[in-house]
Amino acid sequence: MTLRKTLLAMLLALVSVSALADSTKVFALDQNQCTPTPAAELRGDPSNGQALHVEHCAACHGANGRSEVVVMHMDETPQDQSDAEYMKNLPDVYLYLAICKGGEGVGKSYVMSPWGDYFSHQEITDMIAWIRTFSST
Ligand code: HEC
Repeated sequence: MTLRKTLLAMLLALVSVSALADSTKVFALDQNQCTPTPAAELRGDPSNGQALHVEHCAACHGANGRSEVVVMHMDETPQDQSDAEYMKNLPDVYLYLAICKGGEGVGKSYVMSPWGDYFSHQEITDMIAWIRTFSST
């Protein structure tokens, strides 16, 4: 493991632990800081999420979340988001942070850009609801 990968792995562990610990608390929404709201509010309208996903995400993640696509600049292929065994371990608040802050915000590839300035809180939760349909988690 390179130092960079080790640091990223440590960061991911920290984010995961604090995200899990925080998911039961109530936060005031702060879009710019990607501050998550309670877990119950993190799943919006899946059909609106589907439309956004097709337009902005499917090129890399595939329309079904399986990432069976070839994107030359992806150093790390995204995980299969239809894999329930994998997805059940990712809380909504983690998906929220990954989308809002981008891959580097959760210790993953920088190829996943931060979308927090681009999408509203509602739109992010709509996409989370849609992504969840891939794995029924
Ligand atoms: C340019 C390609 C690309 C686009 C476009 C893209 N992603 Fe990603 N996404 C990635 C990569 C690469 C990763 C991280 C892979 C890794 O390091 O494991 C990732 C990671 C994620 C993760 C974290 C998943 C995990 O397993 O930890 C989520 C959630 C996600 N993306 C959602 C989205 C959403 C929603 C959109 C559209 C708004 C989107 N992505 C657009 C490439 C992309």
